[in-house]
Amino acid sequence: MNLPALTPVWTPDDVTIRKAGSILSEGGIGAMPTETVYGLAGDALNPTAVSRIFEAKNRPTFNPLIIHIAEPEDLHYLTVYPIEKAELLINKFWPGPLTLVLPKRKEVPDLTTGGKDSVAIRLPAHPIARNLIRASGKYLAAPSANPFNYISPTTAYHVQAQLSGKIDFILDGGPCTVGVESTVISLAEKTPVLLRHGGLSFEDLEAVLPGLTERTSILHESPDAPGQLAVHYSPGTRFKLWNGEDLSGPRTGFISWTHVPEDPEVVTYRLSESQSLIEGASRLFQGLYELDGKNLSIIYAEPVPDTGLGRAINDRLRRAAGKS
Ligand code: TXA
Ligand code: MG
Repeated sequence: MNLPALTPVWTPDDVTIRKAGSILSEGGIGAMPTETVYGLAGDALNPTAVSRIFEAKNRPTFNPLIIHIAEPEDLHYLTVYPIEKAELLINKFWPGPLTLVLPKRKEVPDLTTGGKDSVAIRLPAHPIARNLIRASGKYLAAPSANPFNYISPTTAYHVQAQLSGKIDFILDGGPCTVGVESTVISLAEKTPVLLRHGGLSFEDLEAVLPGLTERTSILHESPDAPGQLAVHYSPGTRFKLWNGEDLSGPRTGFISWTHVPEDPEVVTYRLSESQSLIEGASRLFQGLYELDGKNLSIIYAEPVPDTGLGRAINDRLRRAAGKS
């Protein structure tokens, strides 16, 4: 039998980042840490590299990718949007977990944007991600480094478990600090619209963009932002939002916010002992992975307060439950 070669996992240092950068500059693809989740990176302007990303993730090509840049000025090469108009957001929230959807330049391949005339751009805060972008000399398309519709990776181990043999390298930057994907805002419409809740809270954005609206409703096909697909971020185990059901037995998993199941056999994962939504977000995907690996018959998750990062957490829980 011909086993696929395992993907090497590298500790990021000057040498490995340079090596990874040169692989990307030649059309290769590899996983990099960001502050939100691990991304599967490739040259955003090279359709061959972008095809490999779609293929490795088994992701439909109508689903557009986010392009990662290392300097705000790089926006000029990717979008025709007058940058001054986005200055407030850029100065306040970049680098960080905010993605801007802007009208695209024709140099950006249709494959990268799923045929849309807009392009999603993010300037990550993680120093390894930014050094890798600089080392590659490219703009890096990077969706979360998980197979389509599966749980997003927040450690190099998650990436390795899911994509080893399909990508050229994994840079291990340790666990991601934010733990949910970036918040996506479109500036390509008449007024700003939030398309995906994420690591930057709605409230923080609203303070800068009064009257900000959202369009994140759960859709079943042809979504504006495929983070909107009903089934997304799902574990393989049957998964439901907890609505007061009886919790019992060793094959029941429970993602808990405040409730403690009476039956001590229930496999319980506390999102945050101290009730911090920030900590909860950072531990969410790790919890889904852990419980999904325990051969349970069902996992329930208790919704969290719907404020701040709680909106992103609840959104991921609802979508993870979408298929059951
Ligand atoms: O935090 C993140 O954003 C991570 C890290 C790796 O940077 N990346 C990530 O990428 O979550 P991905 O591909 O899993 O999610 C990209 C999201 C999707 O919901 C997609 O629909 C939306 O961004 N998006 C990308 N381009 C878009 C466009 N032109 N218009 C509307 N939505 C777009
Ligand atoms: Mg994703």
